[in-house]
Amino acid sequence: MSTAIAYEDAVDLLDSDHKLVQKLFIQFQTQHEFGASPDDRRMTAERICAALTIHTQIEEEIFYPAVREATGDDALLDHAEEEHQEAKDLIARIQGMGPEEDGYDECVQQLAGAIMAHVMEERERVFLQARYSPLDLRGLAVALFERKQALKSAAGGVPELPSEKTPEQMEEQS
Ligand SMILES: [Fe+2]
Ligand SMILES: [Fe+2]
Repeated sequence: MSTAIAYEDAVDLLDSDHKLVQKLFIQFQTQHEFGASPDDRRMTAERICAALTIHTQIEEEIFYPAVREATGDDALLDHAEEEHQEAKDLIARIQGMGPEEDGYDECVQQLAGAIMAHVMEERERVFLQARYSPLDLRGLAVALFERKQALKSAAGGVPELPSEKTPEQMEEQS
């Protein structure tokens, strides 16, 4: 039995993740500017870190290997994985710090910059290559979705992660 999902294909699913994380970064920036409490800032930062950890994991386990295989563009995927490593190092630093510590907000801002640059490259290069390859992007979307659900439930709902797009939202867009 195949899973019914509200994403058109793998690129749509992954880019929806990007947009949700982008919203969380904007929320963090607002909290930073308005001097939100350490607890509030930490909650947003933890949500960002958890969402990105799952996102990078499903890309590395499922999407990147499929694009690598279909395009043979090792340099492109090696570069993307290096950028993931950079993000993981920043996530580890943020998770090892307290929100009242000097440099906490700057570290989250640095992660925001790194992720936004990575997302731009992913859209312009990896997603484009994937679309022009013979990859079954719809089939991949189901694999990505199922793996994401498994990782989310393993995380136990703390911190709360952005919810998935629903079929109703999809109808509104079309
Ligand atoms: Fe991504
Ligand atoms: Fe990525």
